[in-house]
Amino acid sequence: MNTVNNDRGVWSSKLGFILAGAGSAVGLGNIWRFPTVAGEFGGAAFVVVYLVAVALICLAVMIAELSLGRNTQRNPVGVYKTLAPGTAWKYLGILGVITGWGISSFYSVIAGWTFGYIFKTAAGTFSNLSPDEIAQAFSNFISNPVAAIGLHAVFMTFTMLILFGGVKAGIEKWSKILMPLLLVILVLLVVRSVTLPGAEKGLSFYLKPNWGNLTGKGIVAAVGQAFFSLSLGMGTMITYGSYLSKQDNLISSAAWVGFLDTGIALMAGFAIMPAIFAFGLDPQAGAGLIFVVLPNMFNEIFLGTVFGTGFFVLLSVAAVTSLISIVEVPAAYFIDEWKLSRKKAVLIAGLGAFLAGIPAALNGNFLNWMNVIFGQYSLIIGSLGVSVFVGWNWGVANVNAEIAEGNPKFRGQRIYGFAIRFLAPIAVAALLVGLILFPDAF
Ligand code: PFF
Repeated sequence: MNTVNNDRGVWSSKLGFILAGAGSAVGLGNIWRFPTVAGEFGGAAFVVVYLVAVALICLAVMIAELSLGRNTQRNPVGVYKTLAPGTAWKYLGILGVITGWGISSFYSVIAGWTFGYIFKTAAGTFSNLSPDEIAQAFSNFISNPVAAIGLHAVFMTFTMLILFGGVKAGIEKWSKILMPLLLVILVLLVVRSVTLPGAEKGLSFYLKPNWGNLTGKGIVAAVGQAFFSLSLGMGTMITYGSYLSKQDNLISSAAWVGFLDTGIALMAGFAIMPAIFAFGLDPQAGAGLIFVVLPNMFNEIFLGTVFGTGFFVLLSVAAVTSLISIVEVPAAYFIDEWKLSRKKAVLIAGLGAFLAGIPAALNGNFLNWMNVIFGQYSLIIGSLGVSVFVGWNWGVANVNAEIAEGNPKFRGQRIYGFAIRFLAPIAVAALLVGLILFPDAF
């Protein structure tokens, strides 16, 4: 039997968990990826599919992950070693740890770009450039190896410094400061964007579903985006769940994280879609949407430099609270399984992710490739694994008993049992097939 390493930790309160959990979920996925894919795949109809996926499938998987973590107080590998000793399930945990490494490597590179754009925007670099020159400036910027690797290094260092502080004094404390700040900046941007002359067209693209626009690819992209956005499938929520106390209500904690994550993704759409249409830009601009389209908008609006700088601060804040949760997965693994001190564990996890990210910093195709392997396939395979494990192996009785701790009035056992045994695994398996059929859906 494993002894618990005292270098793990616990949240100080339910609010602490909710902010840290929302900090993990809300990230580049919400503010950069969500508006990009929603624009690419038809606007409002995509958004409806996304919302259905969150409500019907993702929340069930999140509750499953939190229950596993809290029940065992372990990292994703330790969970399976404890609940299914001597079986191959531990490889599902190992896949999560490797995925944490894979995602953190390229995530930190993109976060580094957003960080660099704070200073570029504040310095007015884009103010006198034409749209073509802005696009050129972006591709020059990301292909400059010194800048790309340097900013990736800076961002990973920030992340490690926060993680050295541990669960309460590091992750929780910084999430409590950074999450409200993010909300304030986002609200300002939404107000600016929806009051631009000509915003109505963007609002109707975003709010009035045109079902003819929805394709098979769009459905796969929407559901996959929901998993990525809610940090599911690699054990982040298992790890964060392992720092929850038995008094906390898992259902309402998961619901809060889901609500905040979805609310912030929707708000990011309100900040970006109206602006795109107001300036006659193309919602299908793809991955460069934020870095190429938005600086054009900031050039055209009153106090654009201030809003623009604020926007990239926001994106960096969102990215750091997510990146800490991604690096925490391998770190928790080293703390629990290798009995390392938190400092050593974070150093190995962070430096490893930094080194693994260097090829992605140097080559955009490599970055995309990492995103497909780790950000899509791995997360979906991991989510399928976790729902099959909880629904069929650990079992509905055990998960419901874990939910009942801290929530004795819970009456949804049958509904939850159905969701985790049938709905989630079938939907995630269908998503995997969809991803194989439409590999370029993201
Ligand atoms: N949810 C984060 C985002 O939306 O940016 C990304 C992420 C974090 C994915 C943690 C997966 C994960 F385990």
